[in-house]
Amino acid sequence: MDALQAELDVAFEPQAWQDPARLAEAVRGARAWIVRNQTQVTAELIAKAKRLEIIARAGAGLDNIDVAAATSAGVVVASTPSQNSLSVAELTLGLMLALARNIPAADRHVKSGGWDRLRFLGGELFGKTLGVLGFGRIGFLTARRAAAFGMHVLAYDPYVDPDSVPVVESRAILAELDCVMADSDFVTCHLPGGKETRGLIDYARFLRMKPTAFFINVARGEVVDEPGLIRALEEGRIAGAALDVRAQEPPGASPLDRMENVILIPHVAAFTREAQHRVVASVCRDVRAVLSGGEAVGYVNFPKPKR
Ligand code: MLT
Repeated sequence: MDALQAELDVAFEPQAWQDPARLAEAVRGARAWIVRNQTQVTAELIAKAKRLEIIARAGAGLDNIDVAAATSAGVVVASTPSQNSLSVAELTLGLMLALARNIPAADRHVKSGGWDRLRFLGGELFGKTLGVLGFGRIGFLTARRAAAFGMHVLAYDPYVDPDSVPVVESRAILAELDCVMADSDFVTCHLPGGKETRGLIDYARFLRMKPTAFFINVARGEVVDEPGLIRALEEGRIAGAALDVRAQEPPGASPLDRMENVILIPHVAAFTREAQHRVVASVCRDVRAVLSGGEAVGYVNFPKPKR
């Protein structure tokens, strides 16, 4: 922000995503528009931003941006697809350990005066099978870290070549979704949002899991059918879950709030100082490049927009 402000007229409106009329006003004369994941960058707003040259997404997911509308309006869309991957992978391992050892519940127990060690008999990660749904950068980095814990890795990703370096190097075994659900002790979701994946992990899929297995979602809330997950947890069909992302954010009250074997955090997987530094640096670099007639490194629209 400081670097951009030194050269450009920058308006910082962190709450504008909540008010489409305010957003339309804010982007009307803008040449660059930087967003995170909550701002819905619709075709309607893009059409109103007549001077717009670049939409820069400070993050990986593009589900909040109408990339096709931007492309046809000649607007570059740039994102930061890998700058926060490490942080998300690390948090995934953290959630696996927290679930396996019941860390949040044990913490609450001690803080409320308890010392019942027998209540907190956990399990090891060593020798267990991790199922990775979506074997992109985050899935791969998670798999590598899981291997360091002595875990076996199964992966589901219809778009990944089984002979590609990430698969071979991490020794992941690619399998069908239902096999990964059935054979894993931990299932972690790293699938993108969108039509193809919406509601993909539903009650029937949870029924395929072992009753001792844990489910983690650090990708997009809409991939999981939340009522199906709640039912599976209530019926004891799976051992527990950790959710960083929700179908609706913020989610409002939910039966999940009262479950001891469920960990809920507010979409913070990518929120580390290091990842945010890389994300913001990359976004600012691309904005400056495009506004001075150059190319964005992280552009995602194809065919490349004519400007
Ligand atoms: C992402 O898409 O990069 C993550 O969900 C984090 C974010 O949007 O800030």
